[in-house]
Amino acid sequence: SQTRIAVIVGSLRRESFNRQLANALCAMGPADFEFQQLQIGDLPLYNQDDDANQHPNVLRLKDEVSRSQGLLFVTPEYNRSMPGVLKNAIDHASRPYGKSAWANKPAGVIGISVGAIGTALAQQHLRNVLAYLDVPTLGQPEAFLQAKEGFFDADGKIGEASRGFVQKWMDAYVAFVRRHVAG
Ligand code: FNR
Repeated sequence: SQTRIAVIVGSLRRESFNRQLANALCAMGPADFEFQQLQIGDLPLYNQDDDANQHPNVLRLKDEVSRSQGLLFVTPEYNRSMPGVLKNAIDHASRPYGKSAWANKPAGVIGISVGAIGTALAQQHLRNVLAYLDVPTLGQPEAFLQAKEGFFDADGKIGEASRGFVQKWMDAYVAFVRRHVAG
């Protein structure tokens, strides 16, 4: 049977490197993994007053997360943390209290940035948040990717220099999800 993975990209930018990375990662997955990129750009700003009456787009997000067996976060780093749009989506689907959609979904955390530390601090902040939400994350290998000339090839795949490294990360992520789904 298929394993459903909800993919959450932390950038809304049209030419986002992280969206390109997410697309490339999904193409590197096995045939029995089904990847769905979730839309987070159309969510309202989180407001606790709305907890009893969540916006339809929030309910859609929560439903998509609930129906998935695993999560894949692909995020840029903004000012040494995760972008607000990503935190907004995480907060929405964690509520109302006691009705979080995230708990116990195994997750991969990865990202690419133009800066030299390759989203390391954004990933670390995200890991803290996910730990609180009872989301187990793949610890090793880590992947801190820098968007340089040739990182993506002309077809949008990972360029030759980094392809093997990224495939190894993806293989470890898939094995991690399989262990959790089986266990
Ligand atoms: C950035 N960028 C950035 N890069 C980085 O490595 N560390 C950082 O802290 C930041 N901070 C930051 C803040 C804001 C508001 C913006 C808009 C950008 C640069 C970032 O890596 C670059 O814009 C990427 O292209 C963003 O990812 P996407 O949109 O291409 O997926």
